[in-house]
Amino acid sequence: MAENERTSIESVLNEDRVFEPDEEFSRGAHIKSFEEYERIYDEAAKDPVAFWESVAESLHWFEPWHTPLVWTEPHAKWFVGGKTNVSYNCIDRHLETYRRNKAAIIWEGEPEDEIRTVTYQQLFNEVCRFANALKSLGVEKGDRVAIYMPMVPEAVFAMQACARIGATHTVIFGGFSADAIKDRVNDCACKVIITADGGYRRGKVLPLKETVDSAVESCPTVESVIVLKRAGNEVTMREGRDHWWHQIVAGKNTECPAEKLDSEHPLFILYTSGTTGKPKGILHTTGGYLTGAYITSKWVFDLKDEDTFWCTADVGWITGHSYVAYGPLANGSTVLMYEGAPNYPDFDRFWDIVERHRVTILYTAPTAIRAFLKWGDEYPERHDLSSLRLLGTVGEPINPEAWMWYHRVIGGSRCPIVDTWWQTETGSIMITPLPGATPTVPGTATRPFPGIIVDIQDRSGKSAEVDEGGFLTITHPYPSMLRTIWGDDERYRKQYWSEIPNVYFAGDGARRDKRGYYWIMGRVDDVINVSGHRLGTAEIESALVSHDAVAEAAVVGRPDEIKGQAIAAFVTLEGRHKPSEEMEEVLKKHVAKEIGSLAKPHDITFTEALPKTRSGKIMRRLLRELATTGEVKGDVTTLEDFSVLEKLREDEDGEA
Ligand code: WTA
Repeated sequence: MAENERTSIESVLNEDRVFEPDEEFSRGAHIKSFEEYERIYDEAAKDPVAFWESVAESLHWFEPWHTPLVWTEPHAKWFVGGKTNVSYNCIDRHLETYRRNKAAIIWEGEPEDEIRTVTYQQLFNEVCRFANALKSLGVEKGDRVAIYMPMVPEAVFAMQACARIGATHTVIFGGFSADAIKDRVNDCACKVIITADGGYRRGKVLPLKETVDSAVESCPTVESVIVLKRAGNEVTMREGRDHWWHQIVAGKNTECPAEKLDSEHPLFILYTSGTTGKPKGILHTTGGYLTGAYITSKWVFDLKDEDTFWCTADVGWITGHSYVAYGPLANGSTVLMYEGAPNYPDFDRFWDIVERHRVTILYTAPTAIRAFLKWGDEYPERHDLSSLRLLGTVGEPINPEAWMWYHRVIGGSRCPIVDTWWQTETGSIMITPLPGATPTVPGTATRPFPGIIVDIQDRSGKSAEVDEGGFLTITHPYPSMLRTIWGDDERYRKQYWSEIPNVYFAGDGARRDKRGYYWIMGRVDDVINVSGHRLGTAEIESALVSHDAVAEAAVVGRPDEIKGQAIAAFVTLEGRHKPSEEMEEVLKKHVAKEIGSLAKPHDITFTEALPKTRSGKIMRRLLRELATTGEVKGDVTTLEDFSVLEKLREDEDGEA
């Protein structure tokens, strides 16, 4: 393949519905008009460092910084010389204000009628007691602590307690296997693991402690395991190593002064999968990360004291870090947390929660939205969703059909939608509408956040023309950026800073339209090259899903002698439709009509479900393997439901 073929990505999706911000919403918003956004953006673009300094000044610093940025590519240090504490900013600051007895966390367990409210004062007490418990086990500033917990308030207490004493946490999603725990805990040499006996998921109890028990056998650095009693399932406690949470906090002081930490002190490591090899430990530090999480929470979600903000992400993902555990609390907001599944006990659980707690802002993922769409309008229609004033999405490109459904059925055609593009690596939202300011168009994350300078480039670093696809890059350092990959700085340089000279390579394909709006076309490793044309899988999927009969679709490339790559589609149909050859033809024609015959799938496999990671991302790598070789040999440890893959494999065998 000629190099120039690899350097551009063809874009084929056209969408021209524009939604202007609602006037009343704009009047009350932090950023009130597109002109205001552009003014702030342009000023920040001229001097990003000055902009970020002005944001950081609204946080509490024990000692001010002397140098705002030290940049030696690819390493950034922000607010150098400054001393601060994330937990102090999220909790202590609010205690001297009217927020002291305000709800910080409203939590609902999966079993019904289980609700807890934690005020800022109570949050302070719980975090301090637990921080003192960690200290009593010998945890010191700089030690690493693993957190493997269900979505309960104690997960946030644990994160905040680590931040308070300067221990670096690594949260491991509660659905991961013992092997995944072992790899992560050993990679960053954790001293303590914090877990629970079990957590609820779809009415069942996940035996978390049992999973930790089998991991910890091969984790030589772990000295102690702290176990929260949550589900009441039976566990074995090893004398000397294992401690019950309630016993270890009993009698502990509710004062634990927040450590005055260097701005660059490591706050957390979060592991994320690359396309190949072992997970990467993305390192985030203190002052810069907090600055990004704080201001994006405030402006993107237009957070006000009256809001009840529900981000449905688990704390095991970056979204649960920045928009559950840290960003909203730094703003003194009320965060809603829900432990369980959206379809337990019925498909309307989310809407029931929104109605009962009068949730005002809902932030969730396209995969969830597509599931709701598939389940049908009757579930949201059972509930009064009029408290909602703003909706958000994150995690993958949202296809316009799902966007429109979210807008109409959940948002009552009234709520702005913020489609937010960012990554574990970026720590906070990078490209997004501001809800009172930015006219939105379904399917685009619109413009960069102030202080964020992005570009679309080819491999040589040349900027793309309007509507010309290319690689999404970030060209100037910003406070919440990752600092390195834990223990592997070489991989950090290689992965992010070597693909294109002098810029951060995000790994996503994108284009910029004539409005300057960014359209994310999916990961570049999900790009398919058909007859020399590079097509983003997301666009083809979006076209498939725009057909009435299709609930969900994934598209991958497989080698083809003539075209370079052929497009293989995997499609889940809406309940009332049945797979057939006619249907296959109809869908191929539909894609040809929507995008052009170039993008027409070569073959379509109908499936009851798609293989997904536990965070809901479609595992295209597996589908690609399946489409190419008819079997899957690679690592499947992060797969949510193995039976999906088994069925697909059988179907493929049947075809062969
Ligand atoms: C994808 C999640 C399109 C993208 C915060 C990115 C998106 C990866 C969007 C990061 C969006 C995230 N539109 N694509 N609004 N948001 N992505 O690390 O491919 O779990 O590179 O962080 O998700 O996923 P991660």
